[in-house]
Amino acid sequence: MSVTKIYIPRETSAVSVGADEVAIEIAREAKRTGAHIELIRNGSWGATWLEPLVEVEVGGTRIAYGNVSASDVPGLFAAGLVDGGEHDRRLGPINEVPYLINQDRWTFWRCGLIDPISLEDFRLHQGFKALEKAFVGGAAAVIDAVTASGLRGRGGAGFPTGIKWRTVAETDADQKYIACNADEGDSGTFSDRLLMEGDPLGLIESMAIAGFAVGASKGYIYLRSEYPLTYSILSRALDIARDGGWLGANIQGSGFDFDIELHLGAGSYVCGEETAMLESLEGKKGIVRYKPPLPAHEGLFGKPTVVNNVVTLGSVPNIVNLGAERYAQMGVNRSKGTLAFQLGGNIRRGGLVEKSFGVTLRELIDDWGGGTASGRPVKAVQVGGPLGAYLSAEQLDITLDYETFIDIGAMIGHGGIVVFDDTANMAQQARFAMEFCAIESCGKCTPCRIGSTRGVEVIDRMIAGENREENYDLLVELCDTMEAASLCAMGGMTPYPVRSILKHFAEDFAASGDDR
Ligand SMILES: Cc1cc2nc3c(=O)[nH]c(=O)nc-3n(C[C@H](O)[C@H](O)[C@H](O)COP(=O)(O)O)c2cc1C
Ligand code: SF4
Repeated sequence: MSVTKIYIPRETSAVSVGADEVAIEIAREAKRTGAHIELIRNGSWGATWLEPLVEVEVGGTRIAYGNVSASDVPGLFAAGLVDGGEHDRRLGPINEVPYLINQDRWTFWRCGLIDPISLEDFRLHQGFKALEKAFVGGAAAVIDAVTASGLRGRGGAGFPTGIKWRTVAETDADQKYIACNADEGDSGTFSDRLLMEGDPLGLIESMAIAGFAVGASKGYIYLRSEYPLTYSILSRALDIARDGGWLGANIQGSGFDFDIELHLGAGSYVCGEETAMLESLEGKKGIVRYKPPLPAHEGLFGKPTVVNNVVTLGSVPNIVNLGAERYAQMGVNRSKGTLAFQLGGNIRRGGLVEKSFGVTLRELIDDWGGGTASGRPVKAVQVGGPLGAYLSAEQLDITLDYETFIDIGAMIGHGGIVVFDDTANMAQQARFAMEFCAIESCGKCTPCRIGSTRGVEVIDRMIAGENREENYDLLVELCDTMEAASLCAMGGMTPYPVRSILKHFAEDFAASGDDR
């Protein structure tokens, strides 16, 4: 008796649009019709606009059905779902869906493909092969490979990962730590979550490799509290890894000890800043620390600590497996490899697109995103979260890489791309940037704590049409002060979105009130 495998994501965005109900209905319908099926709750492929995305394995090919709702299920069974039958929802083989095949899936390649909480499936798909290879080649070889790959931090600052790891490796200490930053607070971003829900064992392997490379025996994942499903999937994966001998003492007889603790965040944006995160991990209030000392010298509990973003870490196993050169060949300038771009806001086909650096915003928004959801023209695009600049429609052919973005006073950050159509009021967005900073500021330094509140007031006066020119000059001066004198990028980069709006969308201030 043959059993048909049916995949339905157990991933936050899919679940939010009914994936659990679809799974229940498919199980019920299979029972009613006597179909022999095995339900697998995979991660998401990242095409969130197609969720719930159901796949049926027929003759070794996975046939995809998009936007399936529970009420579609009886009709799908009647149309021969278990044999990959024709239906309005049928998209064809998953490996022929254009949104997916034109990507460069280096870090996210197992997302959607495997059962995230099956050690067997993970092992069948290269799981723990890179860690085994690291044990054979030695710690120095891992650091050399990461350095040669050109991998830079995906959390926002783009710092070279190999240099960070080498610094920790070369710092003498009785204890070192790996701290995985999974706070993912940037607006419009979800790549960390997608990776953790779709390939949690991959993150565990990545952290173990980092620990082995720098001589750390303990890792922490600082997970944002707004991700309850991720928490349950990661907890399960940690248990599975421990039971399988891939975490704990003397991993697979290698002599290397490593374990990971999962820690829920404090629900504050600034806790994603690495030193505030370390404070929070230590059980204190999440307030930014002065640097130096760098976390690589004195981090968690005063010990040398690698702080890396989820996607940064997740890029490492394939660098070890496939070689640094392969990674370094992708991308442009000093922006090597791929970035997980996340399309959100007013966009027809939102989702994750992993692509080499050098792709343009227009390609992402038009070719993958299908333009705005409203069908109206694009007015502005905010790249890099709440501290990122807004680009105008004239800037869509700019290539996405760290250097080009720095040159235009913008940043790529964590790869969030939020699209606005021509109905957006950019003066309100400028106000929002300052207000966000005022709400989320940790309060340690004056330019950020006080400056952001004054910034809201100045913008309110501009919007009301009060002494607009005078207030404009004041706002520019305030932005300069915040950028120059803030202790961290929260206050230091809030001027980016504000300035970009003054530069490209100044008319929105004029439109919002009479000059008095
Ligand atoms: C206000 C603020 C919030 C941040 N939030 C995050 C975050 O949510 N996740 C993250 O990985 N990095 C965040 N960062 C960047 C971290 O400070 C740090 O650069 C990063 O975790 C280092 O890892 P990477 O080198 O792998 O990017 C934030 C920085 C600032 C200033
Ligand atoms: S810039 Fe803002 S968030 Fe950063 S240390 Fe100063 S007050 Fe805190």
